[in-house]
Amino acid sequence: MSIKAIVFDAYGTLLDVYSVGALAERLWPGKGASIATTWRDKQIEYTRLRTLCDRFVDFWQVTGDALDYACEANGVDLTSDARRALMDEYEELTAFSENHAALTRLQDKGVPMAVLTNGSEGMIAAALRASKLEGFFDHVLSVDSVGKFKTSPEVYQMGPDAFGLAASEILFVSSNCWDICGATWFGYHTIWLNRYAQPMERLGVEPHARGKSLTDVANYVLS
Ligand code: LAC
Repeated sequence: MSIKAIVFDAYGTLLDVYSVGALAERLWPGKGASIATTWRDKQIEYTRLRTLCDRFVDFWQVTGDALDYACEANGVDLTSDARRALMDEYEELTAFSENHAALTRLQDKGVPMAVLTNGSEGMIAAALRASKLEGFFDHVLSVDSVGKFKTSPEVYQMGPDAFGLAASEILFVSSNCWDICGATWFGYHTIWLNRYAQPMERLGVEPHARGKSLTDVANYVLS
């Protein structure tokens, strides 16, 4: 295979965002799942609206705004302590359990790797440190430097620019299907990690490969 480098999405792909919903459930029993879903959906919706209308603010701000919306929509009172605790979760996410072993296999074979994320520079640095993943990546690419979010071509262009490679020589890895669609349209070789058994988006584009975890990524690249 002609894969010369790998670019990973962060939230949901490398970093397990489950703990965010679990904390919301502890704070508001019976509403955690609904709050977490609305929070994530609004977070992504706001990234798109802000990009479409050229109104960029960083992902930390977007994430907080979406949390405020999700709590009001679910009829819960978001105290400043609860808000801080939920936002702090984003900086202390754990890695999926297979990540270290899979990334070590790839690193041992000399495969260059990067993270490309909507996350702000501060957020992603803190989360990679907390999850002990920071040592695996040659580049940590945040959309902050282009002032647009995924699925802007300018964002995806950061991968080829960082490695000096064509997008088709880089494997793009995400568990977010919409991100995989954007990356495939851009020209990356893509693998969708369908961690949550979701249906394929109906956008007329297909990933080059599918898997369920980073183990599948290591097997795909090293086979
Ligand atoms: C990211 C979000 C989309 O890390 O998961 O870019």
